[in-house]
Amino acid sequence: LLVMGLANGGKTTLVNNLKPEKDRDPPEFVAPTVGFNVERFTLNKCKLTVVDMSGQGKYHELWECYYKDIQAIIFVVDAASSAEQLEESKSMLATMLSHKDLKGTPLLVFANKSDLPEAKGAAAIASEVNLTGAVCDSRAWHIGACSALTGDGIDGGIKWLLGKI
Ligand code: GTP
Ligand code: MG
Repeated sequence: LLVMGLANGGKTTLVNNLKPEKDRDPPEFVAPTVGFNVERFTLNKCKLTVVDMSGQGKYHELWECYYKDIQAIIFVVDAASSAEQLEESKSMLATMLSHKDLKGTPLLVFANKSDLPEAKGAAAIASEVNLTGAVCDSRAWHIGACSALTGDGIDGGIKWLLGKI
């Protein structure tokens, strides 16, 4: 799985929450990712290799190095972020999904930080980042709201994704 999205969206916090409980870090120990992290663990009987990319601009060119080797994408959006950031997520997603190596790769989008009162719901985020647009026509995709911090909403999205790979 390749986990992508803007910096500060909650990617590493999400991956931390997917790991077996004994291997998790306390959420306050999660720091901005430098480059990327690779984690290997079993989830719902699936052996996963999860590549958690940094969302910082200077690392974006690293992302496509992994496109050939992955089976599914998790794209994390901070659902409580500003209109400009949502616009940035939208163009980032469009660029990424138009890459030839990601043609048809299943896509799970998390509208993260649902625990924050200002967070938008999954349907609103789907429209903000244009999930209904052309780039999603030829692939299986799913969006769900979640809180990577509390764990709420993660299971449903992950079950969907594991059913596609
Ligand atoms: P980069 O590694 O820089 O790309 O960031 P990231 O996407 O990995 O984000 P990270 O997991 O480091 O989280 C960024 C901040 O958001 C941290 O302070 C997290 O505690 C916080 N955060 C992540 N998920 C949630 C969430 O669901 N709710 C709330 N309230 N905060 C969250
Ligand atoms: Mg990170």
